[in-house]
Amino acid sequence: IFSEVAAKNNQTLFIVGGYVRDLLMKRQSPTDIDFVTEGNGIELAKAIAKELNPKLKVSVFKNYGTAMFKHQGLDLEFVGARKESYAEDSRKPSVEIGTLEDDQKRRDFTINALAISLNKENFGDLIDPFEGILDIKNRILRTPLEPSQTYSDDPLRMMRAIRFASTLNFKIEENSLNAIKNESERIRIVSLERIMVEFNKIMLSAKPSAGLKLMEETGLMQLIIPELTALKGIEEVEGQTHKDNFWHTLEVVDNISTNTDNLWLRWAALLHDIGKAPTKKFVDGIGWTFHGHEFLGSKMVKNLFYRLKLPLGTDMKYVQKLVKLSSRPIALVDDGTSDSALRRLLFDAGEDLEDLFILNKADITTKNSSKQAKFKRNFEEVAIKIKE
Ligand code: CTP
Repeated sequence: IFSEVAAKNNQTLFIVGGYVRDLLMKRQSPTDIDFVTEGNGIELAKAIAKELNPKLKVSVFKNYGTAMFKHQGLDLEFVGARKESYAEDSRKPSVEIGTLEDDQKRRDFTINALAISLNKENFGDLIDPFEGILDIKNRILRTPLEPSQTYSDDPLRMMRAIRFASTLNFKIEENSLNAIKNESERIRIVSLERIMVEFNKIMLSAKPSAGLKLMEETGLMQLIIPELTALKGIEEVEGQTHKDNFWHTLEVVDNISTNTDNLWLRWAALLHDIGKAPTKKFVDGIGWTFHGHEFLGSKMVKNLFYRLKLPLGTDMKYVQKLVKLSSRPIALVDDGTSDSALRRLLFDAGEDLEDLFILNKADITTKNSSKQAKFKRNFEEVAIKIKE
């Protein structure tokens, strides 16, 4: 039907973008398919929808020149092929009509610029002008145009590059990585909501540290969550050092990600030591301390969620609570548990006790195996006492 309607309208039709990429990578079943036509995308969407089912509701986004409808559980989106140019200070493109190749060129990465023809003369052909197939094979993220052009056209793509690197386990090609380093400041013109969509996809990937490291390396972390960058580094006074809490945090996030897909529990791991940078002190006779960091940390969570435009309801309260209690079970066993301390923990943690344990287990990152064993043993002890 799709090809026939397009042919009848004298328009070409192609599938492009993520659907083609995921098909070639044999990844999960798709939720949306993007179509490009050389001609009017909105009119073609309406014509195809009408042919499929006259009752189908087509949503039209006139400003973007796109239209979409749902069919067999999939979001089908149509756009007329375009050339785009962007103003310096905005993500909104000015749009001109273009060919398929113009449209492929303006896309973010070569792996997202592949097209499948739905036209009679070459039905099913893969159209790959920028060697996207080779890049999929070599697991490389490369931009179709000069990287600085692609990223300055739409700076959100810097976050998308890191998100794809993290979720697909790809490498960002060197010129591209350098362009992100040079252009990182331009992320400021992108809304935080859009940035956080990408950030949360990184957080939900199998090994979030891959993306978090890239954010740090490119300077994006410093611009978006400077509280995390502040945890970086080790100081030494009188021969005593403390651990680098940034790298420790990344390890904890990876650890917890093997045990939970709960985004906010992963966020709690990301922020569990956030109060350590501002509370760090060297005390004579004692060494490095981070006194009260859990309390400050939980206050910082609120500011951070507010600034990052993350949800401020129960999700935030849950993260705050876990950060505040984060090291309590471990501290308890170190002091020798008293019943009253245990009761207090039970009361404070409430129904989130299980998650608090998951966080504590992930937090044990010491390489010293006897120390590790001691932690685990004591920790199990508390868990057992609580269960009693
Ligand atoms: N695209 C782009 N620049 C952006 C966003 C999207 O060039 N900032 C293009 C890419 O070709 C992309 C397509 O639009 O493949 C669709 O974008 P989107 O649905 O956001 O992402 P997908 O690639 O489909 O990936 P996913 O579904 O995993 O988000």
